[in-house]
Order: sequence, then C-alpha cells, then structure tokens
Amino acid sequence: MSIELKLNGDKPNLPADTKMIEVFIMGKRYYVPATLTIQKAIEWAGFQFLRGCGCRGGICGACPTIYRTKDDYKLKIGLACQTVVEDGMYLIQLPFVPAQKSIYHIEDERPTIAAIEKHYPETFRCVQCNTCTKACPMDIEVMQYIAEIIKGDYKKAAELSSSCIMCGMCAARCPAELQQFNVAMFVRRMYGRHVLPKAEHLQKRVREINEDKYDKFLDELAEIPNEELVNRYKEREWQPETFEDPNWQPKETKYL
Ligand code: SF4
Ligand code: SF4
Ligand code: FES
Repeated sequence: MSIELKLNGDKPNLPADTKMIEVFIMGKRYYVPATLTIQKAIEWAGFQFLRGCGCRGGICGACPTIYRTKDDYKLKIGLACQTVVEDGMYLIQLPFVPAQKSIYHIEDERPTIAAIEKHYPETFRCVQCNTCTKACPMDIEVMQYIAEIIKGDYKKAAELSSSCIMCGMCAARCPAELQQFNVAMFVRRMYGRHVLPKAEHLQKRVREINEDKYDKFLDELAEIPNEELVNRYKEREWQPETFEDPNWQPKETKYL
C-alpha cells in the first residue's frame, strides 16, 4: 500500500444521514462511512493500493488484513474486500503472508507421504486445533485436508482444498506454523499430474496450438481496430455456467 494521502476534505458528496465511524489505519485515526468494506475505507481515507489488492471480490486472496475491534483483545484476520469496517477498528494491511514454497520438478515427484515429508515436513506438526478452518474465508475444511495429506490421501486433500484462494490466513493463524496453502497446492499438482486421467480435449487443443492452427486467427485479431474488438468481446457467446449439456458447442465453430 502506498502512502499517497488525499486531503481529508476531498470527498464525494455524501447523504446528510451517512453514519461515519472511527477507524485506525496503520495507527492513525480516520473517519469513514460505516457501510464500507475495509478495502474501500482505506481508499476513502486516501490510500492507494499498489499491492495487497486484486479482484475486489473475495476470489484472488490478495488482501488479508489484520485487525482488532473495539474492546476486544482478539487479533483477527480477514479479507479487506469482504469485511465491513466497525467503529474503533484497528487495521494493518499485509502485502502478503510470508511462507516458504518448496522448489521441485513435477516429473521427479510422486503423490506419496514421503514427498510431503521431503517438501513440507512441518505438515506433520499439526495439533488439530482447527484454527485454520475457522480463519479460512472460503469455508474450506483446512484441518481436514491437512489430516488427509498426513494420511497420504491426495485425492481427498485435493478435492477438499480445490477452492483455496492462497490468501494465507490459515498459515498466519496456525500455532504449528504450517503452510497449508502451499502443501495443498503441491498435493493438487501431484494429483493432477500423476493420478487424474489426461483430458483428451485439452491435449487436442495443445496439439493444435503447437501446429500453429491459431496463428492466423491471432494475426487477424491483431489487425482489428480497438472499438470492434471491444464490441466483439461484449457480444461473444458464453458457455452456459452450469455445464448441463456435455455436447454443448458455440454457434461459431471455426475456432474449434
Ligand atoms: S491451525 Fe495448524 S495446527 Fe491447527 S489444525 Fe490447522 S494446520 Fe493443524
Ligand atoms: S485454505 Fe488457507 S490460503 Fe486457502 S483460502 Fe483458506 S485460509 Fe486462504
Ligand atoms: S482483493 Fe481479491 S480477495 Fe480481496
């Protein structure tokens, strides 16, 4: 987060009945509208995010914030884009949660307990306190996927952790100093590479890309004026969100 501050009076007009509350950002007092998320309140106060902010929708995991609320001794952690400010809140922004990531070659590893011992040995220190599960903004059963990893069940661990957004809030709270999100990423990669069958349609597409099938389409797109590109983007056909028809095809099939 940069420390570029706007003048406090330089604000959009607010309805007269807007409730303002007091928050402390990096130790300094600000008055912000009570309905804002932490992220918007920090911007309201005049800060501009250069790091620690991405999707603004609870998906990218870039915005963990540590805070205390008034008269509460507990140190809390939450996503700044999803947590609404409270009167008397103390806020500290984390640009990221520090965690080591093991370096390995995916072809040289196998989905075994020994691989976990080698790359993330601290995983076995879990004391099953469930703090990680309580901290997770995605409601993931973090303690449970760690238990599956310790048992060597890569399938269950991969499935349980598949919605992880890598925010690191579980690791920030873990008394045993695990790096849950990194070990879970390792497990999903191993499971995807060595256990799941290869997706035929993906292999076909990779082959076509390597055979330069799409080069001429990309060259065409590069020549199109910006405005038309924007229109094409807006008018593009969407794949149905719930994939009920496995044989669904777009109307325009020349790119397939
Ligand atoms: S917070 Fe750490 S020690 Fe506690 S259950 Fe989660 S992984 Fe295990
Ligand atoms: S498992 Fe950990 S890193 Fe993943 S979303 Fe939950 S708290 Fe964030
Ligand atoms: S900005 Fe992406 S989760 Fe908050």
